[in-house]
Amino acid sequence: SNNIVVAIDGYSSCGKSTLAKALAKKLHYIYVDSGAMYRAVALYFLRNNIDTHNHAQIEEALNNIHLNFHSRDYETHITLNDEEVSEEIRQMPVSEKVSEVSALKEVRREMVKQQQRMGKSKNIVMDGRDIGTAVFPDAPVKIFMTADPAVRAQRRYDEIHLKNPDVTLEEIFENIAHRDYQDTTREESPLVRAKDAIVLDNTNLTPDEQLQFALDKVEGLK
Ligand code: C5P
Repeated sequence: SNNIVVAIDGYSSCGKSTLAKALAKKLHYIYVDSGAMYRAVALYFLRNNIDTHNHAQIEEALNNIHLNFHSRDYETHITLNDEEVSEEIRQMPVSEKVSEVSALKEVRREMVKQQQRMGKSKNIVMDGRDIGTAVFPDAPVKIFMTADPAVRAQRRYDEIHLKNPDVTLEEIFENIAHRDYQDTTREESPLVRAKDAIVLDNTNLTPDEQLQFALDKVEGLK
């Protein structure tokens, strides 16, 4: 097939989705937020008290989870068994659970399968942790994003503190550090830069500068 996949990976809260959305919008590609899928699975695990050491329970849970994206206006609208959960998956309980759930190999196998299906025949921008390594190892454009952890925590805080006034900057910083640690040290497809991914450190870059950087890479394919 000659569709184009742009893979954007990197650490927690370093602006992957902001860039991915802007890029998809500009290019009229489909945007897929793979993290939202892991978050929705984590939400299901929390609500149903799934024991992450019980393989039969994990498999059963996965059989009962049906995720769908409704990509209006390039924002992430995800449903879990037909319930809109886009807001709830951003709350702290899910953020605190998601790395544990996403480390499970059964969960990864199922999500990767669904993600590969989405990129089969369409032009897409997908962001996550293993998009350029495990999901689309042949993606023609791979960007690996990073930024200073303190800057990341501040950005995330600015983004959510209006809706979550009780959350502190320190709590967010801890959560980001914790997820980075878990995501890079897990056994199943840990977060690692694909050999052919270009690094984008956006600590001192505006969203427009990042978009231009990514557009240049896609333009470079022609
Ligand atoms: O991208 P976001 O921060 O919303 O992702 C939430 C969590 O989902 C990550 O911390 C990581 O544990 C997991 N994840 C993953 N693989 C992906 C995307 C997200 O393991 N492709």
